[in-house]
Amino acid sequence: MAYILLSGFVLPLVLQSSLVLCNPPELKVGFYQYTCPYVEVIIRDEMTKIISHVPSLAGPLLRMHFHDCFVNGCDASILLDSLPGLPSEKESIPNLSLRGFGTIDLVKAKLEQACPGVVSCADILALVARDVVLLTHGPFWDVPTGRRDGMRSVKDDALNNLPPPFFDATRNLFQFFIPKGLDAKDQVVLLGGHTLGTSHCSSFSDRLYNFSGTLMPDPSLDRQYVPRLKTKCAQGDTRTLVEMDPGSFRTFDASYYRVIAKGRALFTSDETLMLDPFARDYVLRQAGVAAAGGYPAEFFADFAASMVKMGSVQVLTGARGQVRRRCAAVNPMYM
Ligand SMILES: *[C@@H]1O[C@H](CO)[C@@H](O)[C@H](O)[C@H]1NC(C)=O
Ligand SMILES: *[C@@H]1O[C@H](CO)[C@@H](O)[C@H](O)[C@H]1NC(C)=O
Repeated sequence: MAYILLSGFVLPLVLQSSLVLCNPPELKVGFYQYTCPYVEVIIRDEMTKIISHVPSLAGPLLRMHFHDCFVNGCDASILLDSLPGLPSEKESIPNLSLRGFGTIDLVKAKLEQACPGVVSCADILALVARDVVLLTHGPFWDVPTGRRDGMRSVKDDALNNLPPPFFDATRNLFQFFIPKGLDAKDQVVLLGGHTLGTSHCSSFSDRLYNFSGTLMPDPSLDRQYVPRLKTKCAQGDTRTLVEMDPGSFRTFDASYYRVIAKGRALFTSDETLMLDPFARDYVLRQAGVAAAGGYPAEFFADFAASMVKMGSVQVLTGARGQVRRRCAAVNPMYM
């Protein structure tokens, strides 16, 4: 009996230490249940105020989580300021589409008041992304939490890990999604997130003026749409913002798939989804739902599932990383 008790006692200890060593804890819904029970209420309240005042922040805040997860995992490295001589991810070209760092700082400040040193910046990004989708009439999903914040942010990491708008969908899939454990469905579903927000002319102007060095527009762009885009984006314009889902860029819905189906997606990465049979089917099905004014139940469920999947890419959990006190800087050594 004693022997059984003893072995019963030893076994969990052995299991526990092996879990810590080779199998870090996974994210879970309600991670802050005891340590910061109102975390989601606090974030939702802040985001409700912010999005009602500045609805155009929804797109950038959704993309911030996406950029964070694609560059060395969802560890809030995207929020770190550069150090002298060491430019951070914030300084890289894709950052041009990112705004809303102030929003994250504001939310973090509220949480530091309520539960100092508890909620990671990486979790804040994931919860904020969910809330902006919900607040723009998109789906709700439970966000597993327990991410910890990374301590490294390097400009060139962003360049090498983010799918560029000018690559085609297949190339992006194999180079950027599959290595992260995301698949063809995640790609077509997550790109549907372009239903929110705007893009700089410079991200697609080669498709209007000089596609592949031909001095002609991209033939896959809707011919009637080209002159309209040209009036918005003069050649060389790096400032103007264009709605990605015109007329509905502040509402999370399936209508971006109609834009793609019509040949009006701004990015090569999105338009080339039509060249892949699986993605094309998906786009056309959702475009039909959007055209009928229907509730995009399939897309909403898929988007929620892909966001949870993306949100767990290369996360730091357990004792790895840290919980930053300020999202823009790693904690000083003594903390
Ligand atoms: C984005 O990068 C540019 C330089 O490429 C830099 O001047 C700018 O401050 C960065 N934006 C943010 C929000 O850090
Ligand atoms: C068009 O693109 C080609 C190749 O990308 C480049 O060499 C050329 O300078 C561009 N022409 C203009 C007018 O921008």
